[in-house]
Amino acid sequence: MSPRAGAAEARGDVALQVEGVTLYYGGLAALANVDLAVHYGQIDALIGPNGAGKTSLFDVVTGLTKPSRGRVMLAGEDVTRRHPAARARLGIARTFQRLELFSSLTVRENIQVAAEAARSLGKAGARGARALVDDQLQRTGLASLADARVDTLSTGTGRLVELARALATEPRVLLLDEPASGLDPSESSALIALLTLLAADGLAVLLVEHDVELVMATAATLTVLDRGRVLATGDPEQVRGLPEVQAAYLGPHTSEEGPARPLPGEGTMPRPEAEGAVPRPETVVRRGGPHVETQAEIVP
Ligand SMILES: Nc1ncnc2c1ncn2[C@@H]1O[C@H](COP(=O)(O)OP(=O)(O)O)[C@@H](O)[C@H]1O
Ligand SMILES: [Mg+2]
Repeated sequence: MSPRAGAAEARGDVALQVEGVTLYYGGLAALANVDLAVHYGQIDALIGPNGAGKTSLFDVVTGLTKPSRGRVMLAGEDVTRRHPAARARLGIARTFQRLELFSSLTVRENIQVAAEAARSLGKAGARGARALVDDQLQRTGLASLADARVDTLSTGTGRLVELARALATEPRVLLLDEPASGLDPSESSALIALLTLLAADGLAVLLVEHDVELVMATAATLTVLDRGRVLATGDPEQVRGLPEVQAAYLGPHTSEEGPARPLPGEGTMPRPEAEGAVPRPETVVRRGGPHVETQAEIVP
């Protein structure tokens, strides 16, 4: 399958743009004036401590949650008022932090459901849903498990099924909410390779991930979210080194999910050049010159 990135959608072009998104849950600003761009042909990563608002941002982008302010642009079209199904039809697909699969169905059936839904929405074109499913089984390495019931699989394999299901809708933007959670190291490596291939194929990938090694090895840009605000965005290495990013990871965070994660760059994250990692472009400049943009520049 080739994502619908055509000649007009060149690598590095903006596929998805989140502009000034604010989201309140009661009195809590889960997202505060968030700007974020996701680009065709690359992986853009989003990290942040638990409760930072990462999943909430996915909910806003996919239409599950309506933002209090701001807008979501897909391929230049304002989709902020579109229903989730319409956004899926336009090419936004996601996986969930907590697996949302049909547990009593087989791997193939789970993917088939998505392929047929996409087809009934007129997305599969001349291609049959069956071929679409076979493609996803192959590319995610799930072919030998096609007839296994999902409730017999490991969490890691379940995550691959979710990914295959998202791909079966032939997205142009793929949102992944902690896809490596529950994966063992070899499954993680396979996931890195797969995500890199998908991006090389033109897909725009937004990766939310706790596995910072995976982020540093795959991402072209890194955005750090903290308490609903964008702290910094740009070249992953530079962003990782910013004092405000370091502080966000050191600061006191109360969360039901546990303490803030270890400080990035303090021995927990190998340098990507030492990893033989995917080559990355120069620092991405969103606004204001050849440097990494920080929140201090967005909101003086
Ligand atoms: N449905 C909801 N109702 C009320 N508060 C919510 C809801 N979903 C998330 N939150 C709150 O919004 C904040 C951001 O949560 P979330 O987006 O899940 O963060 P992350 O994915 O970065 O861990 C947290 O304080 C969380 O408790
Ligand atoms: Mg989350």
